[in-house]
Amino acid sequence: MAWSKDEKKVVLEKGECSCEVHLYGATVTSFKVKGKEILFVSSKAKTDGSKAIRGGVPVVFPQFGKVAGSELPQHGFARNSTWSWIGVSKENDEEISAQFGLSAANIPEALGKLWPHTAIFNLVLTVSVYKSGKLDIAMQVKNIGKAGEFPITPLLHTYLRCSKSSDLSISGFSSCQYLDKLLHESVGVLTDANSTAKIASEVDRVYIRVGNDIAVKNTGVMDTVTVSKNGFSDVVLWNPWIEKSKSMADFDDEEYHQMVCVEPGTVIDPIVIKPDQSWTGTQTIAVT
Ligand code: BG6
Repeated sequence: MAWSKDEKKVVLEKGECSCEVHLYGATVTSFKVKGKEILFVSSKAKTDGSKAIRGGVPVVFPQFGKVAGSELPQHGFARNSTWSWIGVSKENDEEISAQFGLSAANIPEALGKLWPHTAIFNLVLTVSVYKSGKLDIAMQVKNIGKAGEFPITPLLHTYLRCSKSSDLSISGFSSCQYLDKLLHESVGVLTDANSTAKIASEVDRVYIRVGNDIAVKNTGVMDTVTVSKNGFSDVVLWNPWIEKSKSMADFDDEEYHQMVCVEPGTVIDPIVIKPDQSWTGTQTIAVT
C-alpha cells in the first residue's frame, strides 16, 4: 500500500521517499528521502489542533503576516483549520499525489467571520511525492462566487532541517531586493550584495520577485536541498535565532540551530481572484 490514513494524518510513499500530512492545517510534517528527514518540526510543536504546527510546511492563507485593516491573525486561518481529505488523485510508478480541501465549512467559526470572503473561496492542496527524491506542494485557490473578488497573499512556510544553521550557504538571493522585517518600515527596500545568504543572527527578510530556485547547501542532512517555486513571486527567509526562540512557547530555545525557513509566497503584490477564476502556486523540494 503506497498510502495510509488515520484520523489525524495521511502518509504517502513512493519508492524510498515518503511524506506525512496532518489534516490540521494540511501541514506536511515530514518528507523523508532514503530515511533522511528533510523537514524540521519543533520538539515542542503542538499537533493536537490547539495551535498551528510549528514546523513542516504550514499553509499561510489568505494573508501573510498581519494586514492593516484585517482582523485575521498573523498568517491567516488555513494553518488553524482541519482540512477535508479529498483523496489520492494520481498514482503511477514515479509518483503519488493526494489532495486536501479547505472551504468555509472547515474554518473555525471565530476565524471565518473575520474574513469577508470566506463563503466564496475554495482551496485545494495537492501533495505529490516522487521516487526521484522530490516533493511538490501545489495550492489552488478558486473564487466560487458569482460576484465579488478577493485579494490573497498566500505562502508555503517551509521549515527545512539542518545540523547547524550557521553553516548554511543559501543561493538565489544575490542582487535581489528585499524588505527586512527586523528594521523599521522607513528603511524601505534594500538590495542583497552577498553571493550567498548566511544565518548568523536573527533573519526575517522578504525577498521580492526572486528567481525560481533557492539552493540551501551544507544542511548536514543532504548536500543540497533546493526549494523551487512556480506561480509565487517572493520568498521569505526566516530564522528566529536566540532571543526570538526563547519567546516562542512551541519552539525549543536551541532549535534555531536546526532549521531555516525558506518560504515561497506572493506577499508584496496581492493576487486578486475574480469570480470563477483560480490561481495556483507550487513549491518543489528536491534533494541532491
Ligand atoms: C515568518 C515571518 O514568515 O513567520 C516572521 O516573516 C514570523 O515575522 C515567522 O515570526 C513565524 O510566524 P509564526 O506566526 O508562525 O510565529
